[in-house]
Amino acid sequence: MEQAEKETTLDHHGQDEELTPEDQMSAYTEAVKSGLYAKRSGLVGKYDNVRRYWEDEVTRIFLRPHLSKLIDRCRANMYRLRILDLGCGGADGYELLAGIRQRDADLRTTEVTMITDEILGLYKGVDLNEDLLDQARQIYGDNPKLSFEVGDFTKPLDCIRESKPFDLYFTSFGTFSHHNDDETAVQLLCDIASHVEDYCVVVCDWLGRWSYEWQDLWTNNLADLRNMDYVVSYIYDEEERELRRDSLEHLLLRVMSRQEADAIIKEASRRAGVEIRPLNFFDRSVITGRHMDTREYNRHAQPMRMAVNSLHETNIRTDLSSLTFNYVPKPGFDFINDYYEHLQMCWNTLVEHAAHLLTVFDEEKREFDPELEPVPASYPPALRDMMERLRLIVRGTGWLGYGLPRENIIEPQLGYALRYLVCNLQRGQGCGHGLVSVLEISKNGTSS
Ligand SMILES: C[S@@+](CC[C@H](N)C(=O)[O-])C[C@H]1O[C@@H](n2cnc3c(N)ncnc32)[C@H](O)[C@@H]1O
Repeated sequence: MEQAEKETTLDHHGQDEELTPEDQMSAYTEAVKSGLYAKRSGLVGKYDNVRRYWEDEVTRIFLRPHLSKLIDRCRANMYRLRILDLGCGGADGYELLAGIRQRDADLRTTEVTMITDEILGLYKGVDLNEDLLDQARQIYGDNPKLSFEVGDFTKPLDCIRESKPFDLYFTSFGTFSHHNDDETAVQLLCDIASHVEDYCVVVCDWLGRWSYEWQDLWTNNLADLRNMDYVVSYIYDEEERELRRDSLEHLLLRVMSRQEADAIIKEASRRAGVEIRPLNFFDRSVITGRHMDTREYNRHAQPMRMAVNSLHETNIRTDLSSLTFNYVPKPGFDFINDYYEHLQMCWNTLVEHAAHLLTVFDEEKREFDPELEPVPASYPPALRDMMERLRLIVRGTGWLGYGLPRENIIEPQLGYALRYLVCNLQRGQGCGHGLVSVLEISKNGTSS
């Protein structure tokens, strides 16, 4: 009987009955090793909230009209879009491009991305780093339209010689600053110009020379500082950063102004004998670059990125005073000081307006009490628009109660309003963490 009972128990539970609590821990160990148990946070790390909701999205907004015209061109001529990503890393550039949405997608549309399976012919990523290429292959290796190859873009012909021409020659997130020597940047543009058959768009993504993050390094004699010693310390929080100080990675990266980029493009155009025409320059991450929080290169920098990350973090309430920006001017840089001081005034006015709206909104009456003063007509249009938008958002959602309307609706919308303001005020001069140039090469004279 005892034997029969034992067998019945085994029938029901099999080997599980034999497992000790320690044995069962292997399930958790496995889960942790898979990476899927990682405590991801939008407050820190490479893919923090500013990266996802500001930098990726803003780049997409600026690239959208150019990609749209390229796709129209492909459709008109009955061929599929071909993209070359130079310094593709783990394929972040592909994800950036694949996430560009159609401008006119309304609330009902579910197919919103511009690069559809039907239009994509080939995305080819080239990088020197085998580990990053492996990472890209692990994610996208099954897709026959995506290929990842080892290549050095400072020897451009090696990357493009074997391939048919591309429609888009692309770099992202500071990759063009890996040209420490301008000659290699000029040569790359020349080689692209000779490789392309008829028409293409080129995106050059540099580090901005005049970012407030590295104000200590600013110099009026540009020859004094061409490449900066860029320390990759920002991926850690403050405590870990200091613990790892001696083992942090350093990169030598070219800092670029609009003036210098223009000179490189002009020289490449002259040498190639083909017009390489700038279509757009934009400053990405002005006052919210990663080194604002580290203060590695500006003793006056404030942790603005941390404050904006908090605005976009679910269920977290932000102290809005942490968003107040105090620009400390650098003597001898009037043009740049004027720009930053104007930005500071507009930014802080919007932050104070948001704080005021939250203070005077009466949740029971669903009205502002006392009533709001009108926004001065003298304010810049982008600021006026965002102040009005925030008024509508607080009035429309401030009484909702459930779902934490301040943390989960109003604060992220304040983030988007600040993003809109900064994008409207940027001048594409190199005042952001990134300076992005969109260029076109047209051999038959037709422009996009
Ligand atoms: C700032 S990371 C950007 C990576 C990726 N494009 C992104 O947006 O996240 C720069 C990339 O350029 C690659 N790189 C640097 N110098 C290179 C070279 N001479 N040839 C090819 N790739 C290079 C690095 O390995 C790295 O993946």
